[in-house]
Amino acid sequence: MPDISFIHPDGSEQGFEAPEGVSVMQAATGFGVAGIVAECGGSALCATCHVYVDAAWVDQLPPPLANELEMLDCTAAERRPGSRLSCQITLNAAMQGLVLHLPERQQ
Ligand code: FES
Repeated sequence: MPDISFIHPDGSEQGFEAPEGVSVMQAATGFGVAGIVAECGGSALCATCHVYVDAAWVDQLPPPLANELEMLDCTAAERRPGSRLSCQITLNAAMQGLVLHLPERQQ
């Protein structure tokens, strides 16, 4: 059960112990993290679960597949090098301490 943290645009931090085997999006919505909309429910079709993976973690996560990369062109907030769809990142024990920054907006 990795501890993960979300940094809100105002700088406040929300951290919790997340279950393994679920997506970052599912963990975030389950723990009431504001700022993850997840309109499509996790099918990589809406880009409203956009997060910026902390620079220290970008290279430690499995890389995005082609459909995620394509949908990242549709984010409401600017796309940056750490941009990911949080529904496409499945949590595992190696992600202990994962830090994700929330964008200003999702729509
Ligand atoms: Fe729709 Fe992630 S929830 S793309």
